[in-house]
Amino acid sequence: MGIEQTETARLRWITLAPAEQTPAGEDVVMGLQQIPKTLPCRYFYDDRGSELFEQICDLPEYYPTRTEEAILEEYATEIAALTGACELVELGSGSSRKTRLLLDAYSQLQSEMQYCPIDVSAGMLRMAALRLLLQYPRLRVCGLAGTYDQALAELPPRGMDNRMLIFLGSTLGNFDPNQCDRFLTQIQQALTPGEFFLLGVDLQKDLAIITAAYNDKLGVTAAFNRNILTHLNRRFGGDFVPERFDHWAPYNVQAHQIEMYLRSHCTQTVTLTQLKVQVSLEPGEVILTEISRKFHLPTLSNDLESHALQPLATWTDPKSWFALLLCQRQCCGSDCP
Ligand code: AVJ
Repeated sequence: MGIEQTETARLRWITLAPAEQTPAGEDVVMGLQQIPKTLPCRYFYDDRGSELFEQICDLPEYYPTRTEEAILEEYATEIAALTGACELVELGSGSSRKTRLLLDAYSQLQSEMQYCPIDVSAGMLRMAALRLLLQYPRLRVCGLAGTYDQALAELPPRGMDNRMLIFLGSTLGNFDPNQCDRFLTQIQQALTPGEFFLLGVDLQKDLAIITAAYNDKLGVTAAFNRNILTHLNRRFGGDFVPERFDHWAPYNVQAHQIEMYLRSHCTQTVTLTQLKVQVSLEPGEVILTEISRKFHLPTLSNDLESHALQPLATWTDPKSWFALLLCQRQCCGSDCP
């Protein structure tokens, strides 16, 4: 893609280095020592994994993306009217495909637009940013390659007075309740009172619909699941043989979550040279690669409120499969005058 001088002038890159205390791969080693063995789901998203995820979004069984997109399409103008002009900061922006709907709405409201996509997949981030620059001539982009922890600890300085953090696609569902609590605290701290948080979440519904979304006929989700091993092989000198694992994604009714596993076919030993770690697996033994929680709106709203994030409006689709919540950071306690 040819990129003009004027376009590159509107683009800034920040690559956040991992914090000193947690050398890369430490989380992999810790996860593999747990029972069941667990891998952090952000390792899905190397460039290949991000591409596979894009394919998942287009699958007939995978309703969340389509449903959220429809809600955004209908209410983007209302969202923009509620927040007024602001800068958009998106966590896990991926291809920024749904963000366009917001950018279109905000471009009616303000002449200068500022968008800060944040993603662990630098390749996907770069492509998305370049495409947006060509499409929106008055947009400035500040792409940030890093994890949520890194990004939320050091967001780029505000380019405008008002900011909205965006977290779509029900990625919040990847966090267990404790991680979720910690994440919402980080969101609370990253926003100043009066600023906004736009959250998209998948809701509890008929189990058959949810299960089908993670067990598609074409096997794209299975390929996505196995790709985490290919990524770890490349990144940490590993010798996983992805074909020796089955994709298994049951719905845990009690916990209201999809649990995605890789199940070993056989007895095998895997080495990750650069992490100086060796793991043995028995036939049938599983590695938990992801949880995807499905939310109950009233409970989630309470949770947000208790983190000083006040839901101003909630929108759903006609079947109430997915919800979009616009929250405002409240003035509270220590940072109140
Ligand atoms: C991007 C985390 C929201 O949990 O539905 C899709 C990832 N995993 N299919 C989800 C995913 C398997 C997705 N999130």
